[in-house]
Amino acid sequence: MSNQFANLVVGDASAQNPLPILKGTIGPDAVDVRALLDKQGLLTFDPGFRSTASCQSAITYIDGDKGQLLYRGYPIEQLAAQCNFDEVAHLLMHGELPNAEELASFQQDLRDHNLLHDQVLSFYRGFRRDAHPMAVMVGVVGALSAFYQDSQDYNRDADQQKAAIRLVAKMPAIAAASFTYSAGRPIRHPDNSLDYASNFLQMMFGKPNEPYIVDPVLAKAIELIMILHADHEQNASTSTVRMAASSGANPFACLSAGIATLWGPAHGGANEAVLLMLEEIGSPERIPDVVKRAKDKNDPFRLMGFGHRVYKNYDPRAAIIRDTTLNVLSHLGMENSPLMATALELERIALSDEYFIKKKLYPNVDFYSGILLRAMGFPSRMFTAVFAVARTVGWVSHWLELKQEGHGIDRPRQLYTGPTPRQLER
Ligand code: ACO
Repeated sequence: MSNQFANLVVGDASAQNPLPILKGTIGPDAVDVRALLDKQGLLTFDPGFRSTASCQSAITYIDGDKGQLLYRGYPIEQLAAQCNFDEVAHLLMHGELPNAEELASFQQDLRDHNLLHDQVLSFYRGFRRDAHPMAVMVGVVGALSAFYQDSQDYNRDADQQKAAIRLVAKMPAIAAASFTYSAGRPIRHPDNSLDYASNFLQMMFGKPNEPYIVDPVLAKAIELIMILHADHEQNASTSTVRMAASSGANPFACLSAGIATLWGPAHGGANEAVLLMLEEIGSPERIPDVVKRAKDKNDPFRLMGFGHRVYKNYDPRAAIIRDTTLNVLSHLGMENSPLMATALELERIALSDEYFIKKKLYPNVDFYSGILLRAMGFPSRMFTAVFAVARTVGWVSHWLELKQEGHGIDRPRQLYTGPTPRQLER
């Protein structure tokens, strides 16, 4: 650490090297440091981009202090209550909710492109049956780059739109096949008489020896999970997709990179960790001990599903998922679920505890989603794959935004800390 300090002049045009301030529509302003290196020979240092706006974007806005999440300006609570997934996908990808005609056309596009090429199906046989679904998805989605040779001019709007629709349309089939293959069941095709969410359920859980009857409560619940996870501005996987895309890479390869990033336990894998923690706790009586451990500075244990890098208030998605989980458990006759009883009591105790209040640690989206997915029959290894299906809409929306902006290649710099020049002496 140096004890020198830089005095950056921000927003004062009369100063020698002023740095302009950029204003968004809402949220903090941003200091435009693009000229800093040229004019002052300085880089900014912000590992992990905690204080850096890596791009400008008009898709999603989060106010972490208020616990607010907006897709194209609409509060997530309103979208979750009043829209279906297809409408939200259209909103994110195209900027506006569709009218009836636009919705019908968008849904037709999704149906037209939801099949997997027969040769894609043959890839699955190359994987071990016990492979993690996310490992399979990284491979299969990346391999789609080898298809669609007739529409790979990704500087053309028509080819961009087609790739985006293909990715959203096919992702449920790709995820479901990674599960049915591991379960030793035949891979199921989409059924165009079903909506997007119901289709995902039938491809996941349908069996070849009996008709699959869609349970509307479960279909609504999975649709809600998809809406809530569809986008979350510049998170690690979305930033990865954008960075890969900045080089002009094939969109299927960019999404594969996004899936790989989402797979990490610090990103998409937390709901599985919550479930493990609740199972370990076992019953509400053991909660005080667990809370004590979470507060102990000398114990690395943390309450999984609590806290968020951006939300310093109740994650609005967590509140919606909690209500849906209660509804689904009661629908399935599982209202006495010990997991849910433990989760509710843990939340009650933590939210009234000085430690959690002071540090602004609230339940995040992952706190209840594992219980919900487990109740619906999803094995825990599929939790992140469900997240990937939902987040595909966000990834392609950011990919489309970046392509339409004509963004150049991303090239972060570094603070070099290696050896200074030296001579090889032999
Ligand atoms: N349980 C107990 N204490 C916690 C927790 C927790 N879940 N989360 C944070 N803290 C404490 C830390 O120990 C730290 O205390 P200190 O100031 O005394 O050192 C303080 O709160 C701040 O912690 P940071 O890790 O600096 O906070 P940050 O905002 O960077 O972390 C994170 C956010 C990583 C999500 C963290 O809260 C955490 O580890 N939570 C549990 C894992 C989890 O649920 N992850 C899912 C996130 S949601 C998603 O990715 C979709």
